[in-house]
This record gives sequence, structure tokens and C-alpha cells, in this order.
Amino acid sequence: MLKIIKVKDYEEMSDQAFDVIKKVVTSRPDSVLGLATGSTPIGLYKRMIEDHEKNGTSYATVKTVNLDEYLDLPQDHPESYYSFMQQNLFSGLDIPKDNIHLPEDGEDRDEQCRKYNVILDQLGIDIQVLGIGSNGHIAFNEPGTPFSMTTHVVDLKESTRQDNARFFDSIDDVPKQAITMGIANIMQAKQILLLVSSEGKAEAIAATINEPETPDVPASALQSHPNVVVIVDEAAAKLL
Ligand code: PGA
Repeated sequence: MLKIIKVKDYEEMSDQAFDVIKKVVTSRPDSVLGLATGSTPIGLYKRMIEDHEKNGTSYATVKTVNLDEYLDLPQDHPESYYSFMQQNLFSGLDIPKDNIHLPEDGEDRDEQCRKYNVILDQLGIDIQVLGIGSNGHIAFNEPGTPFSMTTHVVDLKESTRQDNARFFDSIDDVPKQAITMGIANIMQAKQILLLVSSEGKAEAIAATINEPETPDVPASALQSHPNVVVIVDEAAAKLL
């Protein structure tokens, strides 16, 4: 079931998202948080850090799992998702290093996917934070990805590489592949928090909510999840 919360703008979306996460973490200090990269959750992460610093909310027993990571990019590269999470969240909180999980590159990538599925199954995600791509993707599950897939390797679409090229010296430096949770993993989360901001997401969120479920719009899989909160700002909600 999708619960839609319409808010004014990015800041209000981030405030409301923070309230949801804080409730989870304080009611269950050993929660497993599913986290996302991208510009959408940065405001939420800022609020989590501010609250930790000001009010002492502890994350010492929280565990985290991230949605995805580039392949063929060292973990300590400034554009890896590992580095993104360090910069935007982990460096400001007290989560023990061993409690933090992201999918990882390795020699045997099938084995890396299998290992990540085991981690996800063993931990069980209490709440998964998601952004949405302008084409309706969630994590690196691009349109056409079967809903049944678990963690897998994806060839990045040329459009996705172009979108991300601004973060690298040149398009040639943008990784060609990534490892991502599949939609089946995401659907296992007890709760999902989908954050949607800006006009560029209006068509994607309208197709996600108003149209029948289809792999052409990966986020539409969420219609079958029992507990989804969608926080959407005015610009993104204009077609709802
Ligand atoms: P964004 O990316 O948060 O940077 O808009 C979302 C996504 O592509 O999943």
C-alpha cells in the first residue's frame, strides 16, 4: 500500500523523511536501515547528522545496507558510493564500521552478488530509503528489469553514464557497470520510504502511482508492497 504525503519543497520532504527515520531508530535502536545515494537523500542525511550532534541520537547499534555501487572503481575513489556515504552520512554518525554494508566489487562477481543477498537475508531491512530516476528506475534497476531479480550486475545505460559524467573528469572515466540490489530484495524491506523531489521526477512518480505495475516502470513494483510511504514535493506531484 502506498501512502502519499505531499509537501511543499525539498526541505519539507527532508524534514518529513527525517521524522520517519528518527521514529524507526529510536523505537528500535538495532534497526537495519537501507540507504541510497544520489542528491535526493542528502537533506535527510544532514538532518540525521544534526540531530545526532545536537540531541545525541545514537546509531551505535544500527546496521546499514546500501542499494548499489559502481564496479571497476576503487572503494576509496571520491565518486564511489562508499565515499559518497562516508562524506554525506557515515562520517557524521556513530555507526560502527562493521555495521555498514555496501555491495562490493570482486574477482568473482556472481559470488559477490550471492554474498550480498545473504547479508540482506540475514539482516532483514527495517526501512529502505529510495530515490527514483526520471525513467522510473530504483537503485540501478532500469526499465525492463524483472521484479524477481535479486542482487545483480548491470551494464549502465549510456544515458545514465552521461547523467553521471559531471562527477568525473570525462565520460570515459564513468564506470560501465554497477552492482545493485534487485527489486526482489527491495520488496523484502518491512517499510519503504520513497523520496521524490523536483519537476524532473513528475512523470516517473505519476507512472509509478497512477498506472498499472509494469517492469517498464521499475518503481511501480512498490504498488504491491504492504508499507510504502511516498514523500513527494509540489513540483514532482504536479501530475498526480
Ligand atoms: P537523484 O537520483 O536522487 O540524484 O535524483 C535518484 C535516482 O536516480 O535513483
